[in-house]
Amino acid sequence: MGSLSGRRVVLGVTGGIAAYKAVEVCRRLVDAGAHVSPILTDGALEMVGATTFSALASEPARTSLFHDPETPIPHTMLGQQADLVLICPATARIISDIRTGRSADLLMATVLATRAPVMVCPAMHTEMWEQASVQENLEVLEARGVLIVPPESGRLAGGDVGHGRLAAPETIAAAVTRALAPGDLVARRVLVTAGGTREPIDAVRYVGNRSSGKQGHAIASEAAARGADVVLVTTRADAAPAGVRVVPVATAAEMAAACALEAPDAEIVVMAAAVADFRPAEAADNKLKKHDGVPQVTLVPTVDILARLGEAKPAGQVLIGFAAETDDLVDNASAKLRAKNLDMIVANDVSKPGVGFEHETNEVIVLMADGARHHVPLSDKRDIARAVLDAARARLESDPEKQEQE
Ligand code: CTP
Repeated sequence: MGSLSGRRVVLGVTGGIAAYKAVEVCRRLVDAGAHVSPILTDGALEMVGATTFSALASEPARTSLFHDPETPIPHTMLGQQADLVLICPATARIISDIRTGRSADLLMATVLATRAPVMVCPAMHTEMWEQASVQENLEVLEARGVLIVPPESGRLAGGDVGHGRLAAPETIAAAVTRALAPGDLVARRVLVTAGGTREPIDAVRYVGNRSSGKQGHAIASEAAARGADVVLVTTRADAAPAGVRVVPVATAAEMAAACALEAPDAEIVVMAAAVADFRPAEAADNKLKKHDGVPQVTLVPTVDILARLGEAKPAGQVLIGFAAETDDLVDNASAKLRAKNLDMIVANDVSKPGVGFEHETNEVIVLMADGARHHVPLSDKRDIARAVLDAARARLESDPEKQEQE
Protein backbone atom coordinates (compact mmCIF):
# COMPACT_ATOMS: atom_id res chain seq x y z
CA MET A 1 0.00 0.00 0.00
CA GLY A 2 1.35 3.43 -0.98
CA SER A 3 1.77 6.17 1.61
CA LEU A 4 -1.00 8.24 -0.10
CA SER A 5 -3.39 5.36 -0.57
CA GLY A 6 -7.02 6.52 -0.57
CA ARG A 7 -6.15 10.23 -0.46
CA ARG A 8 -7.59 12.59 -3.07
CA VAL A 9 -5.45 15.36 -4.50
CA VAL A 10 -6.65 18.04 -6.90
CA LEU A 11 -3.58 18.97 -8.94
CA GLY A 12 -3.97 22.51 -10.30
CA VAL A 13 -1.50 23.33 -13.06
CA THR A 14 -1.06 26.98 -14.05
CA GLY A 15 0.72 28.63 -16.96
CA GLY A 16 4.41 28.63 -16.07
CA ILE A 17 7.19 26.96 -18.04
CA ALA A 18 7.59 24.60 -15.07
CA ALA A 19 4.17 23.10 -15.94
CA TYR A 20 6.03 20.25 -17.63
CA LYS A 21 7.45 19.25 -14.24
CA ALA A 22 3.92 18.91 -12.86
CA VAL A 23 3.67 15.80 -15.06
CA GLU A 24 6.37 14.16 -12.94
CA VAL A 25 4.69 15.33 -9.72
CA CYS A 26 1.41 13.80 -10.96
CA ARG A 27 3.12 10.48 -11.68
CA ARG A 28 4.79 10.40 -8.27
CA LEU A 29 1.52 11.07 -6.44
CA VAL A 30 -0.29 8.38 -8.41
CA ASP A 31 2.58 5.95 -7.72
CA ALA A 32 2.22 6.71 -3.99
CA GLY A 33 -1.44 5.65 -4.21
CA ALA A 34 -3.20 9.04 -4.40
CA HIS A 35 -6.28 9.67 -6.51
CA VAL A 36 -5.20 12.67 -8.60
CA SER A 37 -7.73 14.95 -10.33
CA PRO A 38 -5.91 17.39 -12.62
CA ILE A 39 -7.17 20.87 -13.48
CA LEU A 40 -5.30 22.84 -16.14
CA THR A 41 -5.75 26.58 -16.57
CA ASP A 42 -5.75 28.27 -20.01
CA GLY A 43 -2.16 29.31 -19.34
CA ALA A 44 -1.14 25.74 -18.51
CA LEU A 45 -2.66 24.53 -21.79
CA GLU A 46 -0.26 26.85 -23.65
CA MET A 47 2.61 24.95 -21.98
CA VAL A 48 1.51 21.30 -21.77
CA GLY A 49 -1.26 19.10 -23.13
CA ALA A 50 -4.28 17.98 -21.11
CA THR A 51 -3.91 14.51 -22.67
CA THR A 52 -0.61 13.93 -20.84
CA PHE A 53 -2.31 14.49 -17.48
CA SER A 54 -5.40 12.50 -18.48
CA ALA A 55 -3.16 9.55 -19.30
CA LEU A 56 -1.14 9.70 -16.07
CA ALA A 57 -3.68 10.88 -13.50
CA SER A 58 -6.58 8.98 -11.95
CA GLU A 59 -9.24 10.69 -14.08
CA PRO A 60 -9.36 12.91 -17.19
CA ALA A 61 -7.89 16.40 -16.84
CA ARG A 62 -10.43 19.22 -16.54
CA THR A 63 -9.92 22.57 -18.19
CA SER A 64 -13.24 24.41 -17.85
CA LEU A 65 -15.88 25.30 -15.31
CA PHE A 66 -18.55 24.64 -17.95
CA HIS A 67 -19.79 21.69 -20.04
CA ASP A 68 -18.35 19.04 -17.70
CA PRO A 69 -19.57 15.58 -18.82
CA GLU A 70 -19.93 14.42 -15.17
CA THR A 71 -21.51 17.33 -13.34
CA PRO A 72 -22.74 20.88 -13.92
CA ILE A 73 -20.74 22.04 -10.88
CA PRO A 74 -17.27 20.44 -11.09
CA HIS A 75 -15.68 22.97 -8.72
CA THR A 76 -17.87 22.04 -5.74
CA MET A 77 -17.53 18.30 -6.42
CA LEU A 78 -13.73 18.53 -6.67
CA GLY A 79 -13.44 20.95 -3.75
CA GLN A 80 -15.60 18.84 -1.43
CA GLN A 81 -13.93 15.53 -2.28
CA ALA A 82 -10.33 16.79 -2.06
CA ASP A 83 -8.01 16.01 0.83
CA LEU A 84 -5.56 18.54 -0.63
CA VAL A 85 -5.53 21.08 -3.45
CA LEU A 86 -1.99 21.26 -4.84
CA ILE A 87 -1.11 24.09 -7.22
CA CYS A 88 2.03 23.25 -9.15
CA PRO A 89 3.46 25.35 -10.58
CA ALA A 90 1.81 28.41 -9.04
CA THR A 91 2.22 31.59 -11.09
CA ALA A 92 2.17 35.12 -9.67
CA ARG A 93 -1.36 35.38 -11.12
CA ILE A 94 -2.85 32.46 -9.21
CA ILE A 95 -1.10 33.54 -5.99
CA SER A 96 -2.70 36.96 -6.37
CA ASP A 97 -6.12 35.45 -7.18
CA ILE A 98 -6.00 33.20 -4.11
CA ARG A 99 -5.25 36.24 -1.97
CA THR A 100 -8.17 38.26 -3.33
CA GLY A 101 -10.53 35.32 -3.87
CA ARG A 102 -11.04 36.20 -7.53
CA SER A 103 -12.82 33.23 -9.07
CA ALA A 104 -11.50 33.53 -12.61
CA ASP A 105 -11.53 29.88 -13.73
CA LEU A 106 -12.23 26.28 -12.67
CA LEU A 107 -9.07 26.08 -10.55
CA MET A 108 -9.85 29.24 -8.58
CA ALA A 109 -13.50 28.19 -8.18
CA THR A 110 -12.25 24.88 -6.75
CA VAL A 111 -9.84 26.63 -4.37
CA LEU A 112 -12.80 28.69 -3.12
CA ALA A 113 -15.06 25.64 -2.88
CA THR A 114 -12.77 23.52 -0.71
CA ARG A 115 -12.19 23.19 3.01
CA ALA A 116 -9.13 21.00 2.38
CA PRO A 117 -5.62 22.41 2.81
CA VAL A 118 -4.22 24.26 -0.21
CA MET A 119 -0.54 23.89 -1.12
CA VAL A 120 1.16 26.21 -3.61
CA CYS A 121 4.51 25.64 -5.34
CA PRO A 122 5.55 29.02 -6.76
CA ALA A 123 7.73 29.12 -9.87
CA MET A 124 8.69 32.26 -11.74
CA HIS A 125 11.60 34.41 -12.86
CA THR A 126 13.70 35.94 -10.09
CA GLU A 127 12.49 39.47 -10.84
CA MET A 128 8.86 38.39 -10.48
CA TRP A 129 9.59 36.28 -7.37
CA GLU A 130 11.25 39.26 -5.66
CA GLN A 131 8.39 41.71 -6.39
CA ALA A 132 7.02 43.16 -3.16
CA SER A 133 3.49 42.37 -4.37
CA VAL A 134 4.25 38.66 -4.86
CA GLN A 135 6.06 38.37 -1.52
CA GLU A 136 3.28 40.22 0.29
CA ASN A 137 0.63 37.99 -1.31
CA LEU A 138 2.54 34.90 -0.19
CA GLU A 139 2.86 36.22 3.35
CA VAL A 140 -0.91 36.68 3.49
CA LEU A 141 -1.47 33.19 2.09
CA GLU A 142 0.91 31.69 4.64
CA ALA A 143 -0.78 33.55 7.50
CA ARG A 144 -4.09 32.05 6.33
CA GLY A 145 -2.65 28.54 6.52
CA VAL A 146 -1.89 27.95 2.84
CA LEU A 147 1.09 25.57 2.62
CA ILE A 148 3.97 26.88 0.53
CA VAL A 149 6.72 24.79 -1.06
CA PRO A 150 9.35 27.47 -1.76
CA PRO A 151 11.16 27.65 -5.07
CA GLU A 152 14.84 26.84 -5.43
CA SER A 153 17.76 28.49 -7.17
CA GLY A 154 18.88 27.22 -10.51
CA ARG A 155 18.40 27.48 -14.26
CA LEU A 156 15.29 29.38 -15.32
CA ALA A 157 13.52 29.75 -18.66
CA GLY A 158 15.57 31.57 -21.31
CA GLY A 159 18.88 30.37 -19.83
CA ASP A 160 18.90 32.75 -16.84
CA VAL A 161 20.10 31.45 -13.49
CA GLY A 162 18.52 32.62 -10.24
CA HIS A 163 15.95 32.06 -7.53
CA GLY A 164 12.43 31.07 -8.51
CA ARG A 165 12.82 27.62 -10.06
CA LEU A 166 10.08 25.18 -9.09
CA ALA A 167 11.05 22.91 -6.18
CA ALA A 168 12.12 19.42 -7.31
CA PRO A 169 9.22 17.01 -8.01
CA GLU A 170 10.42 14.68 -5.22
CA THR A 171 10.43 17.61 -2.75
CA ILE A 172 6.87 18.49 -3.73
CA ALA A 173 5.71 14.86 -3.49
CA ALA A 174 7.36 14.61 -0.03
CA ALA A 175 5.59 17.82 1.07
CA VAL A 176 2.24 16.37 -0.07
CA THR A 177 2.91 13.09 1.77
CA ARG A 178 3.81 15.06 4.87
CA ALA A 179 0.70 17.24 4.66
CA LEU A 180 -1.53 14.17 4.30
CA ALA A 181 0.37 11.98 6.76
CA PRO A 182 -1.38 10.24 9.64
CA GLY A 183 0.70 12.69 11.68
CA ASP A 184 1.47 10.39 14.61
CA LEU A 185 5.05 11.70 14.70
CA VAL A 186 4.26 15.39 14.12
CA ALA A 187 7.12 17.60 15.35
CA ARG A 188 8.88 14.61 16.96
CA ARG A 189 12.66 14.98 16.61
CA VAL A 190 14.11 11.90 14.96
CA LEU A 191 17.78 11.15 14.20
CA VAL A 192 18.57 8.38 11.72
CA THR A 193 21.99 7.16 10.59
CA ALA A 194 22.44 5.24 7.37
CA GLY A 195 24.97 3.72 4.99
CA GLY A 196 28.33 2.07 5.44
CA THR A 197 31.26 4.14 6.67
CA ARG A 198 34.42 4.36 4.57
CA GLU A 199 37.71 4.35 6.41
CA PRO A 200 40.52 5.69 4.21
CA ILE A 201 43.72 3.75 3.49
CA ASP A 202 45.07 6.46 1.20
CA ALA A 203 43.74 9.26 -1.02
CA VAL A 204 41.67 6.86 -3.17
CA ARG A 205 41.25 3.56 -1.27
CA TYR A 206 39.16 2.73 1.76
CA VAL A 207 37.98 -0.08 4.02
CA GLY A 208 34.20 -0.30 3.61
CA ASN A 209 31.17 -2.57 3.64
CA ARG A 210 28.23 -3.42 1.40
CA SER A 211 25.58 -1.29 3.12
CA SER A 212 23.48 0.70 0.61
CA GLY A 213 21.82 2.94 3.20
CA LYS A 214 18.38 1.92 1.85
CA GLN A 215 16.91 0.74 5.17
CA GLY A 216 18.03 3.87 7.04
CA HIS A 217 16.77 6.11 4.24
CA ALA A 218 13.40 4.33 4.24
CA ILE A 219 13.10 4.97 7.99
CA ALA A 220 14.02 8.65 7.58
CA SER A 221 11.54 9.06 4.74
CA GLU A 222 8.73 7.28 6.61
CA ALA A 223 9.35 9.35 9.77
CA ALA A 224 9.21 12.57 7.73
CA ALA A 225 6.02 11.38 6.02
CA ARG A 226 4.49 10.92 9.47
CA GLY A 227 5.31 14.49 10.39
CA ALA A 228 8.63 14.14 12.25
CA ASP A 229 11.51 16.61 12.02
CA VAL A 230 14.18 14.27 10.73
CA VAL A 231 17.96 14.59 10.68
CA LEU A 232 19.61 11.96 8.50
CA VAL A 233 23.33 11.37 9.04
CA THR A 234 24.33 9.32 6.03
CA THR A 235 27.29 8.18 3.97
CA ARG A 236 24.92 8.01 0.97
CA ALA A 237 23.82 11.65 0.80
CA ASP A 238 23.58 11.24 -3.01
CA ALA A 239 20.59 8.90 -2.50
CA ALA A 240 19.01 10.68 0.50
CA PRO A 241 15.22 11.09 0.49
CA ALA A 242 13.53 14.50 0.25
CA GLY A 243 11.91 16.18 3.25
CA VAL A 244 14.71 15.49 5.75
CA ARG A 245 17.78 17.46 6.88
CA VAL A 246 20.81 15.61 5.54
CA VAL A 247 24.22 15.60 7.25
CA PRO A 248 26.69 13.93 4.87
CA VAL A 249 29.53 11.97 6.47
CA ALA A 250 32.10 9.42 5.30
CA THR A 251 33.99 7.89 8.23
CA ALA A 252 32.98 6.45 11.61
CA ALA A 253 34.69 9.40 13.31
CA GLU A 254 32.64 11.90 11.25
CA MET A 255 29.45 9.99 11.98
CA ALA A 256 30.30 9.91 15.69
CA ALA A 257 30.86 13.69 15.71
CA ALA A 258 27.57 14.35 13.88
CA CYS A 259 25.67 12.05 16.27
CA ALA A 260 27.24 13.68 19.34
CA LEU A 261 25.85 16.98 18.07
CA GLU A 262 22.40 15.81 16.99
CA ALA A 263 21.49 13.01 19.44
CA PRO A 264 21.00 15.00 22.68
CA ASP A 265 17.94 16.77 21.18
CA ALA A 266 16.44 13.71 19.50
CA GLU A 267 13.44 11.87 20.92
CA ILE A 268 14.02 8.84 18.69
CA VAL A 269 17.47 7.75 17.49
CA VAL A 270 17.71 4.98 14.90
CA MET A 271 21.25 3.74 14.32
CA ALA A 272 20.79 1.93 11.02
CA ALA A 273 24.28 2.69 9.70
CA ALA A 274 26.83 -0.07 9.16
CA VAL A 275 29.71 1.49 11.06
CA ALA A 276 33.15 0.03 10.45
CA ASP A 277 34.50 -1.58 13.62
CA PHE A 278 38.08 -1.05 12.48
CA ARG A 279 39.91 1.60 10.52
CA PRO A 280 43.46 1.84 9.15
CA ALA A 281 45.68 3.31 11.88
CA GLU A 282 47.06 5.78 9.37
CA ALA A 283 45.73 7.06 6.07
CA ALA A 284 48.28 8.19 3.47
CA ASP A 285 47.56 11.66 2.05
CA ASN A 286 48.60 10.56 -1.42
CA LYS A 287 47.82 7.47 -3.45
CA LEU A 288 50.07 4.56 -2.44
CA LYS A 289 52.09 3.39 -5.47
CA LYS A 290 52.25 -0.23 -6.57
CA HIS A 291 56.00 -0.10 -7.16
CA ASP A 292 56.53 0.73 -3.48
CA GLY A 293 55.39 -2.82 -2.59
CA VAL A 294 52.40 -4.31 -0.79
CA PRO A 295 51.44 -1.92 2.03
CA GLN A 296 51.04 -3.14 5.59
CA VAL A 297 47.65 -1.86 6.76
CA THR A 298 47.35 -1.90 10.55
CA LEU A 299 43.76 -1.69 11.76
CA VAL A 300 42.67 -0.02 15.00
CA PRO A 301 39.16 0.01 16.54
CA THR A 302 36.73 2.82 15.76
CA VAL A 303 34.48 4.34 18.37
CA ASP A 304 31.26 2.38 19.04
CA ILE A 305 28.85 5.23 18.34
CA LEU A 306 25.73 3.44 19.56
CA ALA A 307 27.36 2.33 22.83
CA ARG A 308 28.40 5.92 23.43
CA LEU A 309 24.86 7.18 22.73
CA GLY A 310 23.58 4.51 25.13
CA GLU A 311 25.88 5.78 27.91
CA ALA A 312 24.70 9.38 27.46
CA LYS A 313 21.03 8.60 26.70
CA PRO A 314 18.75 11.42 27.91
CA ALA A 315 15.62 10.43 29.91
CA GLY A 316 12.72 9.54 27.65
CA GLN A 317 14.80 9.10 24.48
CA VAL A 318 14.09 5.94 22.49
CA LEU A 319 17.41 4.51 21.30
CA ILE A 320 17.26 1.90 18.56
CA GLY A 321 20.10 -0.20 17.19
CA PHE A 322 20.39 -2.68 14.35
CA ALA A 323 22.08 -6.05 14.52
CA ALA A 324 23.26 -7.69 11.32
CA GLU A 325 23.97 -11.31 12.20
CA THR A 326 24.72 -14.55 10.42
CA ASP A 327 24.41 -16.88 13.46
CA ASP A 328 22.40 -17.02 16.72
CA LEU A 329 20.31 -14.02 15.66
CA VAL A 330 18.20 -13.47 18.76
CA ASP A 331 20.93 -14.23 21.34
CA ASN A 332 23.50 -11.99 19.67
CA ALA A 333 21.01 -9.17 19.15
CA SER A 334 19.73 -9.37 22.75
CA ALA A 335 23.31 -9.17 24.05
CA LYS A 336 23.88 -6.00 21.97
CA LEU A 337 20.60 -4.53 23.24
CA ARG A 338 21.72 -4.92 26.85
CA ALA A 339 25.39 -4.01 26.34
CA LYS A 340 24.55 -0.76 24.51
CA ASN A 341 21.66 0.31 26.81
CA LEU A 342 19.09 0.27 23.98
CA ASP A 343 15.30 0.40 24.09
CA MET A 344 14.98 -1.70 21.01
CA ILE A 345 17.10 -3.60 18.48
CA VAL A 346 16.19 -4.58 14.94
CA ALA A 347 17.82 -7.91 14.23
CA ASN A 348 18.28 -9.29 10.75
CA ASP A 349 19.85 -12.50 9.57
CA VAL A 350 21.89 -11.22 6.63
CA SER A 351 22.73 -14.74 5.45
CA LYS A 352 19.09 -15.27 4.34
CA PRO A 353 18.12 -14.55 0.70
CA GLY A 354 16.58 -11.09 0.14
CA VAL A 355 17.60 -9.83 3.59
CA GLY A 356 19.73 -6.83 4.55
CA PHE A 357 22.59 -5.35 2.54
CA GLU A 358 21.83 -4.02 -0.96
CA HIS A 359 18.35 -5.60 -1.15
CA GLU A 360 15.05 -3.71 -1.52
CA THR A 361 13.55 -6.08 1.06
CA ASN A 362 14.32 -7.15 4.60
CA GLU A 363 13.09 -9.57 7.26
CA VAL A 364 13.60 -8.61 10.89
CA ILE A 365 12.85 -9.43 14.48
CA VAL A 366 12.27 -6.33 16.60
CA LEU A 367 13.41 -7.00 20.19
CA MET A 368 12.28 -4.63 22.95
CA ALA A 369 14.19 -4.00 26.20
CA ASP A 370 11.24 -5.45 28.16
CA GLY A 371 11.61 -8.76 26.33
CA ALA A 372 8.74 -8.26 23.85
CA ARG A 373 9.43 -9.52 20.33
CA HIS A 374 7.88 -8.77 16.99
CA HIS A 375 8.67 -10.64 13.77
CA VAL A 376 8.28 -8.74 10.48
CA PRO A 377 8.33 -11.21 7.55
CA LEU A 378 10.20 -10.52 4.31
CA SER A 379 8.82 -7.17 3.11
CA ASP A 380 9.73 -3.93 1.41
CA LYS A 381 12.17 -1.83 3.46
CA ARG A 382 9.46 0.85 3.73
CA ASP A 383 7.20 -1.66 5.52
CA ILE A 384 10.05 -2.52 7.90
CA ALA A 385 10.47 1.23 8.50
CA ARG A 386 6.77 1.47 9.39
CA ALA A 387 7.03 -1.40 11.87
CA VAL A 388 10.16 0.06 13.52
CA LEU A 389 8.54 3.49 13.88
CA ASP A 390 5.26 2.01 15.17
CA ALA A 391 7.24 0.29 17.93
CA ALA A 392 9.29 3.45 18.62
CA ARG A 393 6.15 5.59 18.89
CA ALA A 394 4.52 3.10 21.25
CA ARG A 395 7.63 3.15 23.43
CA LEU A 396 7.78 6.96 23.36
CA GLU A 397 4.17 7.22 24.44
CA SER A 398 4.42 4.61 27.18
CA ASP A 399 4.45 5.86 30.77
CA PRO A 400 7.75 7.78 31.29
CA GLU A 401 7.93 6.74 34.99
CA LYS A 402 7.76 3.12 33.95
CA GLN A 403 10.63 3.75 31.53
CA GLU A 404 12.83 5.17 34.28
CA GLN A 405 12.33 2.14 36.53
CA GLU A 406 13.37 -0.28 33.82
N1 CTP B 1 27.52 0.45 15.75
C1 CTP B 1 28.03 1.68 16.08
N2 CTP B 1 29.37 1.91 16.06
C2 CTP B 1 30.22 0.93 15.73
C3 CTP B 1 29.72 -0.35 15.40
C4 CTP B 1 28.37 -0.56 15.42
O1 CTP B 1 27.25 2.58 16.38
N3 CTP B 1 31.52 1.18 15.71
C5 CTP B 1 26.06 0.22 15.80
C6 CTP B 1 25.43 -0.15 14.49
O2 CTP B 1 24.99 1.01 13.79
C7 CTP B 1 24.25 -1.02 14.91
C8 CTP B 1 24.73 -1.66 16.18
O3 CTP B 1 25.81 -0.87 16.65
O4 CTP B 1 23.11 -0.25 15.18
C9 CTP B 1 25.18 -3.08 16.05
O5 CTP B 1 26.12 -3.16 15.02
P1 CTP B 1 26.76 -4.56 14.62
O6 CTP B 1 27.78 -4.32 13.54
O7 CTP B 1 25.67 -5.56 14.35
O8 CTP B 1 27.45 -4.99 15.96
P2 CTP B 1 28.80 -4.70 16.64
O9 CTP B 1 28.52 -4.03 17.94
O10 CTP B 1 29.74 -3.99 15.72
O11 CTP B 1 29.34 -6.17 16.94
P3 CTP B 1 29.83 -7.33 15.92
O12 CTP B 1 30.35 -6.62 14.70
O13 CTP B 1 30.85 -8.04 16.69
O14 CTP B 1 28.63 -8.20 15.62
